[in-house]
Amino acid sequence: MEDIYRDRSRIIEFFNSHGLLIASDALDLLLKSNSGDLVNRLITRETLDSGYISVDKIRQTLNIPYDSSDRKFEIYLPDVRVKSSVDDFRGYFVSRYEKLRKIISLSSAMRGSTDIKGIKKIREDVREVKLVAMVSEVSVTRNGHRRLLVEDLDDSIEVMIMKNKKSFNEIILEDEVIGIVGGLSAKGDRKTIFANEIIRPDIPYRVIDDEKGDPVYVASLSDIHVGSKTFRKNDFIQMINWIKRSDSDSSRIKYLVLSGDVVDGIGVYPGQDSDLEILEPLEQYRKLSEYVNQVPEDIKVFIMPGNHDIVRLAEPQPVLPERLKKDFNDNIYFLPNPYNLVLEGKNVLIYHGMSLNDMVELIPGLNFSTVGKAIEELLRRRHLAPKYGGKTPLIPSPNDYHVIETVPDIFITGHVHSHTIGNYKGVRYVNSSTWQSQTDYQKMMNFSPNPSMFTLFDLKSKSTIIKDFKS
Ligand SMILES: [Fe+2]
Repeated sequence: MEDIYRDRSRIIEFFNSHGLLIASDALDLLLKSNSGDLVNRLITRETLDSGYISVDKIRQTLNIPYDSSDRKFEIYLPDVRVKSSVDDFRGYFVSRYEKLRKIISLSSAMRGSTDIKGIKKIREDVREVKLVAMVSEVSVTRNGHRRLLVEDLDDSIEVMIMKNKKSFNEIILEDEVIGIVGGLSAKGDRKTIFANEIIRPDIPYRVIDDEKGDPVYVASLSDIHVGSKTFRKNDFIQMINWIKRSDSDSSRIKYLVLSGDVVDGIGVYPGQDSDLEILEPLEQYRKLSEYVNQVPEDIKVFIMPGNHDIVRLAEPQPVLPERLKKDFNDNIYFLPNPYNLVLEGKNVLIYHGMSLNDMVELIPGLNFSTVGKAIEELLRRRHLAPKYGGKTPLIPSPNDYHVIETVPDIFITGHVHSHTIGNYKGVRYVNSSTWQSQTDYQKMMNFSPNPSMFTLFDLKSKSTIIKDFKS
């Protein structure tokens, strides 16, 4: 612990690993405090429930009198370098492998697993070997069997999945981490594993318990696209007015999540200018603030960026720039993409959803109207972007932030402009609709969005409410 509290990025990472955000002024004070065990003392029921650490919380913990000056709230993402080297790629994949290996190894089917080096030392055919590996190549043989090349930290080996096996139906993507149980063929120099079973990290099945008391809602909406000519202003104003009216449902909203593409941006696709009503991005955010500032101040609003927003495209995306904060009320917080919030002790995983495009393309039978299935495929793989590359630009940081380390209670996504809710083994999920009408591009792609839908999840029970604000 001695050196953790001297290092900004390690402190941020430490709190992030507990699903906590830390305010910039809180971080400054913490670094100044020189109190070695303070970081651990800040992991309390109260901070975990609120999801963040404020400067007031630190003052309270250290018995420093309250000071109302200089209150700001900025969320930090651990340092992520944009320039990447071969080492960064290795570090990134090692992080991905290690995190998922830990999860897969929890499966009882993986008891007694070993590494590839160990398997390669075996000189005779063996009925059963078990290993956790990352898939580096997937191909189909001339006879229609599936051939994988898989690797762990030190070595690689060939795996065959014969077409008569049940696991042949598993769709396996490059770069994903899987458990393999199979027989080893060790004849000659060539060692091959014939897979009997593919083990996914997956979600352990849970039942959602209803807690006592009134509902506490986290509401979700996405892809507002303020600034676009096709932004459905009237629907959006209706929705804000409904929240303000405070009926029995809206009065119980405590959190509101906007999961990316809050504005339309500029230069996102060729010829976008002719689709824009507001051509200046900062003006688009200012307009957004006019709407969102009307949300009652006792509701915490979280804004995440998406691929139309002003930050870099590659994920993990940092929070929106600090200079935009001045237009937004104090109850409005900026989040990085992706992010795991802890609200009322529940894990709420939020991801804009760029990789859903890749999943729909890579998994046979999926399309944008079955995006719920794509969401479930992410959960089964415990990874938000299983295939590296594709249409989802990722930064190869030494920490793979896309691994779903903590099982979410609620998983919120956006990006594809459909509206789908579902429940996968006790994880409630949503693709949070949009507030934009069908664009010419979507018309060309033959895709009809389902706009102006508003989803409320009760954090205390399994009840979910959908409100339709389409006019
Ligand atoms: Fe969008």
